[in-house]
Amino acid sequence: MSNLTQEINRRRTFAIISHPDAGKTTLTEKFLLYGGAINLAGSVKGKATARHAVSDWMEIEKERGISVTSSVLQFEYGGYCINILDTPGHQDFSEDTYRTLMAADSAVMVIDGSKGVEAQTRKLFKVCVMRKIPIFTFINKMDRDANDTFDLLDEIEKELGIATCPKNWPIGSGKGFKGIYDRDKRCVIIYSDTEKGTKEGETIEIPVEDEERLCGYIGREALDKLLEEIELLDGASAGFDLEEVRRGDLTPVFFGSALTNFGVEIFLQHFLEMTTTPLPRKADSGLVDPAENNFSAFVFKIQANMNKAHRDRIAFMRICSGKFEASMEVKHVQGGKIMRLSQPQQIMASERKILEEAYAGDIIGVFDPGVFSIGDTLCMPKEDFTYEGIPTFAPEHFARVRQVDTMKRKQFVKGITQIAQEGAIQIFQEYNTGMEEIIVGVVGVLQFDVLKYRLNNEYNVEIRLEPLPYEYIRWIENKEEFDLDKLTGTSDMKKVKDMRGNPLLLFVNEWSVGMTIDRNKGLILTEFSRN
Ligand code: G4P
Repeated sequence: MSNLTQEINRRRTFAIISHPDAGKTTLTEKFLLYGGAINLAGSVKGKATARHAVSDWMEIEKERGISVTSSVLQFEYGGYCINILDTPGHQDFSEDTYRTLMAADSAVMVIDGSKGVEAQTRKLFKVCVMRKIPIFTFINKMDRDANDTFDLLDEIEKELGIATCPKNWPIGSGKGFKGIYDRDKRCVIIYSDTEKGTKEGETIEIPVEDEERLCGYIGREALDKLLEEIELLDGASAGFDLEEVRRGDLTPVFFGSALTNFGVEIFLQHFLEMTTTPLPRKADSGLVDPAENNFSAFVFKIQANMNKAHRDRIAFMRICSGKFEASMEVKHVQGGKIMRLSQPQQIMASERKILEEAYAGDIIGVFDPGVFSIGDTLCMPKEDFTYEGIPTFAPEHFARVRQVDTMKRKQFVKGITQIAQEGAIQIFQEYNTGMEEIIVGVVGVLQFDVLKYRLNNEYNVEIRLEPLPYEYIRWIENKEEFDLDKLTGTSDMKKVKDMRGNPLLLFVNEWSVGMTIDRNKGLILTEFSRN
């Protein structure tokens, strides 16, 4: 096997999705701990900053480093080179969060055992389903009273529409949490509450047949319940099929407690075995194989630097094939230019470092003088193809935006258009009118504050935002077949168009979406726009 193939095959690139507070940060910290990337858990990111996202956003300007470093983490574990992509779940939830999933080959879904499936998880899950990437579930906080295990699995299946296969099974929860039962090995791993920040203690594994010894650890009652549940489980659940997992139809489920560091390494090991190496990616020239092709990458995120004096930006790209070397020339397909990527950097656990080389599966950040757009392709100078675009995701919050000083119309339009081009917000216009009225749509409300701040700070324009009641936006997939003037919706529906002139409909509730589809035979509405 060539060195290139070896390097690519040991890469695993995944995103962690969860609702705020389910334990994503804690779990990531423990992963890093096992990888030896940090010595003590608790240093992944400036948590205080992440917590109070709205008020502290301006502070992030100063601490931009922290915010950038928390987007991607790379570490080594057991011969694997692991890239974790962070999907912020707090108030800073934005379209970036969705786009990050476009760069991952699989996703880890963290669920709080006492809460079950929550809103943010549901949203992110939809994108995983769209991409058909494998999803691995870690049910966390088993050291706290959790919902019934069968109910939790049922909820995942019903709410998210994915089949589940528990790889291990919890014995009690909260004060009565005794450990987990490993279904493959048919043994019980006894719960040990290791100190926060240290590696998992010595694990005690007892075969389930050794009832006497097990009783000593977990008690007769818990053992009887476990045996009953195992019987139910073995009888009821379908067999494990790795192919189904890889297609995103089945999620393996694990239980544990990230805080007390129990079940985390077991999960990590299983996950790494089951998840995929960097996947081939669709381009207009066909599928691009990671190991067989030359260097290529696509831009999935652009982070504007808040430093007013420099206006520089970092473009994050996912390498899709081959090897990247810092000195090499590459082609920016959309810009039609051959260039050297400036200051390529890789993000390690706690610092950024200028990198010399990287491989398919890795994420690199490069200095962007304003030439890249989200979805752009980079390849070797002699090649020419483009990767499938990144969809535009449906915003859920809308506001009408006006500049306070009407004399500053030009700067206002320029600023808002540029910020929209970066992908930080989406702008819409009234259908059939010009630019007079601009409607802004965002995925997370924090983006409104970001917009206000940036227009003021970078373009010297003060704006007023007037919230609109719409929560649902739909693109018209078969727009050629529909005359928008004749389309009949509900009275609270609004017709708008996006920057590319595509017609869209805004709705106040889901009922109106349904009514409009009913009233217009053949109308196809979508939540993503691919053009
Ligand atoms: P997030 O990134 O998904 O938002 O969650 P995060 O890891 O920050 O965890 C949220 C809270 O839940 C934290 O408590 C964390 O310590 C706690 N937590 C995480 N995993 C577990 C677990 O397995 N068991 C228990 N009992 N708690 C867990 P906090 O008090 O909000 O923050 P902190 O002061 O501990 O940092």
